Amino acid sequence: MAMQQTVSWHTHKVSREHRERLNGHRACLLWFTGLSGSGKSTIAGLVEEKLHAMGKRTYLLDGDNVRHGLNRDLGFSDRDRVENIRRIGEMSRLFVDAGMVTLAAFISPFRADRDAVRELMEAGDFVEVFIDTPLATCEQRDPKGLYQRARMGQIKDFTGIDSPYEPPDAPELHIVNDGISPEEAAARIVRYLQTHDHLPQQDLPLHDGA
Ligand code: ADX
Repeated sequence: MAMQQTVSWHTHKVSREHRERLNGHRACLLWFTGLSGSGKSTIAGLVEEKLHAMGKRTYLLDGDNVRHGLNRDLGFSDRDRVENIRRIGEMSRLFVDAGMVTLAAFISPFRADRDAVRELMEAGDFVEVFIDTPLATCEQRDPKGLYQRARMGQIKDFTGIDSPYEPPDAPELHIVNDGISPEEAAARIVRYLQTHDHLPQQDLPLHDGA
């Protein structure tokens, strides 16, 4: 749908930078991608807990939860998944503008859709985290019993079974989630943020020249 010609962008006085100063840290988007049952939500939740304990302002957007509300009109056809990720990308952009360290945990199976979210963000704000868990492991865990139902043909278009997953070519973080604990994975991600200028140890000054 084309945007109305009568709508223009309004720039408000309180900016992202002001909000970041008040928070004492920068905002960014941590984008978790991987198969269903790969551990995305669990690891993202642990990262959020650690950041929260460090006094960082966070918000976690989770596939299953967002599909209960904003995106409850969407299913799992290719077209609906594209729209799912487009809306979440726009929403994530608002959360980052609000000054939050935003964590998004969605299968997001298509490379082009993840790249479109990266493009939507300011340079350096997008941290793609590939939770790389072998399909066999996800299927063995099958926390919601969905793989079993997909194998029996009761669920159609299931990622990894009869719908594709395109792994990232160059994610900022590639977590091979096989034989490591969710704690270890989360600690690695937090360390990455601290050593790559996203969340340096030093807080931002509250005022210019302070
Ligand atoms: S995405 O592909 O559009 O990014 P999203 O992360 O929002 O998917 O939702 C995935 C969750 O929906 C899965 O963890 C699983 O619980 C549930 N689900 C239900 N049907 C499917 C399906 N056909 N394919 C994948 N996940 C499904």
